[in-house]
Amino acid sequence: MSDRLRFLKSIGVKLLGGGVVGIILVGVAKGLSFPPVFQAMFFIYGMLGAAVYILLDAPALRPLSGLPALMALVAFYVIISGVYITGASLLPQYDPEDEKGKIDKLLKAKRAATEQGKAEELLARTKALSEKAEAIMQRLQALGGSAIAVAPPGADSAKPSGMPSTASADLVALGKEQWELQECYNCHKLFGQGGKKRGPEMDNIGNMMSPEQMREKILDPMSWMTEGFEKEFRKKKMPDKYKELMDEKEIMAVVAYLSTLKDPSVNTPKSVKPN
Ligand code: HEC
Repeated sequence: MSDRLRFLKSIGVKLLGGGVVGIILVGVAKGLSFPPVFQAMFFIYGMLGAAVYILLDAPALRPLSGLPALMALVAFYVIISGVYITGASLLPQYDPEDEKGKIDKLLKAKRAATEQGKAEELLARTKALSEKAEAIMQRLQALGGSAIAVAPPGADSAKPSGMPSTASADLVALGKEQWELQECYNCHKLFGQGGKKRGPEMDNIGNMMSPEQMREKILDPMSWMTEGFEKEFRKKKMPDKYKELMDEKEIMAVVAYLSTLKDPSVNTPKSVKPN
């Protein structure tokens, strides 16, 4: 009886020790800014350590032999595996759904384009477009012309001087395709089409923003705020994904296209630097 009492007492002491170690581990983990799941896990490790010491001091079991020994062995494995698997599946860092969630977040922007059932079409057209753009870039370089995006505001940037009109016409056509492919029309009305009133009409944007400003806006929608659309701006209505979905040439092209839109009869608002 006194043996049993001593064992119970030692269990108490070891649990206490495990708890103290666990709390120290949590403190350290917190200090190193581990997330709460990990802090909890470290505490569990402390208690597991205590359990091992308790088992070491536990009174010996009655020896078994033959079939009962085999059954006891199997039961032991079943219980231990059960505990291990349950524990592991409860801890989130072992959960494949958790990892999938993270990957999903990373791929969301890319997937948005494919989910609309256009993956193949997009790929084929993008390839054709980028070949075309490549050719245009080569012609531009051959002419020594600099990027269209740096044309001064107010200049007719679709036809900078010294550039043959066929090259710029190609670029504008490319930009028009980008406008369609990237579905800018979902929020921006143009020629009376699209829009759903979510963003400003674009028919006169060529008179309101310089190409460089448009480029900034597309790359980072928070860089410019459209007057009269402050609420939409604050709600980040314009997606911040084009810098991932479009390459430099495609952005240049859509800017060149937008720069040709100069219809003063449409009330395209101007944008200002947000403060
Ligand atoms: C989900 C809606 C949405 C989509 C899609 C969208 N925009 Fe916008 N955009 C807005 C809103 C809302 C504003 C005005 C608020 C602000 O300043 O962000 C805006 C503002 C702009 C402006 C400034 C307009 C002005 O009058 O000064 C430009 C330029 C622009 N967008 C270009 C684009 C281009 C190019 C695309 C496609 C590649 C695009 N947007 C796609 C919602 C959208």
